[in-house]
Amino acid sequence: MTHHIAILGGSGFVGRHLAERLCQQGHQVRILTRNRERNREELLILPGLELVQANVLDPIELEAQLQGRDVVINLVGILHERRRGRNDLPPARHGDFEKIHIELPRLVANTCARLGIPRLLHMSALGANPIAPSAYLRSKGIGEEIIRQAGENSAALGHFTYLNGPKLLWGRGLKVTSFRPSVIFGDGDSFFNRFAQLLRSVPFVVPLAKADAKLQPVWVEDVVSAFVQAMDDEKTYGKSFELCGPKVYTLAELLRFTQQQIGKHQVILPLCDLVATVQAAILEKLPGKILTRDNLLSLSVDNVCQRDDLRKVFGIEPSSLESIVPSYLNQGSSRAGRLAEVRKRRGEAA
Ligand SMILES: NC(=O)c1ccc[n+]([C@@H]2O[C@H](COP(=O)([O-])OP(=O)(O)OC[C@H]3O[C@@H](n4cnc5c(N)ncnc54)[C@H](OP(=O)(O)O)[C@@H]3O)[C@@H](O)[C@H]2O)c1
Repeated sequence: MTHHIAILGGSGFVGRHLAERLCQQGHQVRILTRNRERNREELLILPGLELVQANVLDPIELEAQLQGRDVVINLVGILHERRRGRNDLPPARHGDFEKIHIELPRLVANTCARLGIPRLLHMSALGANPIAPSAYLRSKGIGEEIIRQAGENSAALGHFTYLNGPKLLWGRGLKVTSFRPSVIFGDGDSFFNRFAQLLRSVPFVVPLAKADAKLQPVWVEDVVSAFVQAMDDEKTYGKSFELCGPKVYTLAELLRFTQQQIGKHQVILPLCDLVATVQAAILEKLPGKILTRDNLLSLSVDNVCQRDDLRKVFGIEPSSLESIVPSYLNQGSSRAGRLAEVRKRRGEAA
């Protein structure tokens, strides 16, 4: 069945991979972006893709762009706030996390309900929880809870303590599914690519905060497969799925793995929490915000799956990072290569 899909956050790392797969399968995909010009060259070559500039936080613009769609996918997310909220409970008030991870999902769910759109897929994050230690994870947790309650099966569950925004219209046939991935790797990621960039610029010693933090990285194409399968699978309605790769690593192991891939041999120096906090307090003031104190709080919770949803629900055998990362870390962008192929074929067809 061909769907008319709107993707919010579709210009990002996950969104580009997802849009490519959906277009390959013949779906009509509309990506909403704040900056069409910045993304047009790479995205507009995908057949069936429409790239629209819109402020998704504006209810009128959002409604106009979701009109006529039968599936909405919300991937919008940020790791750092430009405007910070309060760091106590209720969390992230008036900050960017609240706007992007709480108010936007609420607006999207409301708009879907108002327009009678039947299907909403939402990207959360592993560890997201309304009482998590970091503002990022708390806001993601509340956003996921809003989406869960917006699903038709949760209409009877009552009002969630932090949901103090405008009245919700849920319970009108909206089928929702949320996804909770650990860190996602793949061509164009900002995890291994950023590690590699850092390692290439640091000479002898790499001071590493939260070196023992546990993560279970998952390949972006496995995440995409779960989204695509869930779209038409009734079993996934009203549910939330954890997405992880096959193996758990510490942050230090992942950094060492990156070193091996790019031929670097610096000493990795694990930092105690106090020094790590001072380091993050300095780094978060610099452009690019490599690390913030809120990131440290996120890393204080193990980012490891409790369930094997990729295999058990979706029948996907997760790919190891050892089998994927070398293909893009050192050898330019394989995705760019694939897109050049698409461009060439379209040129030939024209
Ligand atoms: N990557 C990971 O390792 C990972 C792990 C767990 C969960 N997640 C979640 O997965 C989702 C996608 O991640 P990603 O890595 O693809 O992120 P990304 O590359 O940073 O892309 C995020 C997208 O969100 C949009 N966006 C950002 N700020 C916005 C704002 N203020 N208003 C409107 N749109 C905004 C951007 O669209 P425009 O700039 O085009 O407007 C961009 O396309 C996020 O929700 C993230 O929290 C990611």
